[in-house]
Amino acid sequence: MTEQEWENFFGAARRWWGTDLTSYKRTHLDRRLTTFMVQEGLTDVPALMARGQNDPEFWERVHSYLTIHVSEFFRDAPYWQAWTQAILQRPDVPLKFWSAGASWGAEPVTLAVLMNAAGRSCEILATDSDVAILREAKTMEYGQEVMSQIPMQYRQYFERIGPDRWRLISSIGRHIRFMRHHLLSDPYPSGFHGILCRNVLIYFEPSARWTVAQKLAQALLPQGYLWLGATETLLEWRGLGLRVVGPSLFQKIANPIAER
Ligand SMILES: C[S@@+](CC[C@H](N)C(=O)[O-])C[C@H]1O[C@@H](n2cnc3c(N)ncnc32)[C@H](O)[C@@H]1O
Repeated sequence: MTEQEWENFFGAARRWWGTDLTSYKRTHLDRRLTTFMVQEGLTDVPALMARGQNDPEFWERVHSYLTIHVSEFFRDAPYWQAWTQAILQRPDVPLKFWSAGASWGAEPVTLAVLMNAAGRSCEILATDSDVAILREAKTMEYGQEVMSQIPMQYRQYFERIGPDRWRLISSIGRHIRFMRHHLLSDPYPSGFHGILCRNVLIYFEPSARWTVAQKLAQALLPQGYLWLGATETLLEWRGLGLRVVGPSLFQKIANPIAER
């Protein structure tokens, strides 16, 4: 893609989604956009721009395709164990969580199930920038294939609603609130005991990654936890007022001056 084509595409992103895509890694955008154009039979960026003229539904599909939605229930199981052990030490009622970049909802639902199984009440805010994936997440309904990711002892939290269809029971589902939130452009909520932001920062350029990590750290209560994806590192964690307490697990320092 030429520099001018990037400019045109970034301009369309600002117009249609209010999003500054320059904060995303270009290699990632290039790969996804090229595959999307091939699938749609579009030869180049000018063809893409022409196809998208006055078509919000088309741009919603482009946005959805650019963002990768891979997720699964109990993804990185050993990490969940370390994480729940840490968070369950807190006496707070209810525990307040934010799943940022929640995709189709496997992450907040796993968390809600684990907290319920541990007898702890919780409130979970689950956000994503992609409205299409949020629509799917909000149903809290799942097919047989993804249900197989759920260990047997937790199947009781899902009710069968069709031959191959399951739904999270409402007594758990009502503690999860799905909302659109863009990590690069929206104001941040705050007051969380734990924030999960897994496999999202990897798509951002280093400076955007730093800004987002800083805002996530600010959104935590003192001694709250930030959980990143298994393959993600946060080399700058010291400057964020965090300490490493486990694999991909950080804790906000209650009194940063005392710990210097
Ligand atoms: C690979 S999925 C990760 C899902 C889940 N956190 C996990 O680890 O299983 C990345 C998600 O981040 C979302 N995302 C990408 N950029 C975002 C942004 N700027 N703000 C909020 N969500 C974003 C995507 O729409 C996608 O659903």
